[in-house]
Amino acid sequence: MFAKTSYLAGAAALVGSAAVALPEGSPWGSANPQAAEHCGTCHFGYDAETDAEALVLRGLPKKPGPGKTYELQITFDDPEAIVAGFQLLASDGEFKANTGNIEYLGAAIRSTRAWHADEGFSWTLSWIAPEVPSVAVTIYIAAVGGNDDLSPFGDRAFFRTYETSL
Ligand code: HEC
Repeated sequence: MFAKTSYLAGAAALVGSAAVALPEGSPWGSANPQAAEHCGTCHFGYDAETDAEALVLRGLPKKPGPGKTYELQITFDDPEAIVAGFQLLASDGEFKANTGNIEYLGAAIRSTRAWHADEGFSWTLSWIAPEVPSVAVTIYIAAVGGNDDLSPFGDRAFFRTYETSL
């Protein structure tokens, strides 16, 4: 295990729990590949892939209706991955989880454990569009495909960005 306390302090404060630990939750904000600390900063064994076709978001309309709830599905297809985790950040709106082991905080949502899957990974969640849609919404998606060694090494980071229009 790693000494995680310092970089987890922020996330723990946000969710009001001291029990948050990696990989039970990637640091909030790290789904943005332009952030100072993103998935690839710690999972640096391979070059992070941006615009990754391995990551697909379904269910996001081009023009979301004000305050409407949409069920979104993320699929992640990394043939090397034994485990995977994800995080999404939206510039507006609100996420909700429909299953356990997913945690959300306003416009951010993340897996809280490394998931196993035999044939690709898939997560569903809800997104509530902003009541007053004044700007196009950007959604950053990140997933890490891991080798299940409970470390940040030997894993691959993938990013993809989706946008809605007005
Ligand atoms: C600050 C460094 C850091 C960042 C940023 C980070 N991770 Fe991690 N991650 C770790 C560490 C450390 C572990 C091993 C944790 C443990 O064993 O408790 C880990 C483990 C994981 C694992 C399990 C890997 C395996 O092979 O067992 C997944 C999946 C994962 N992280 C996903 C993510 C995702 C997705 C992001 C970005 C949204 C992310 N991580 C960002 C440090 C980080």
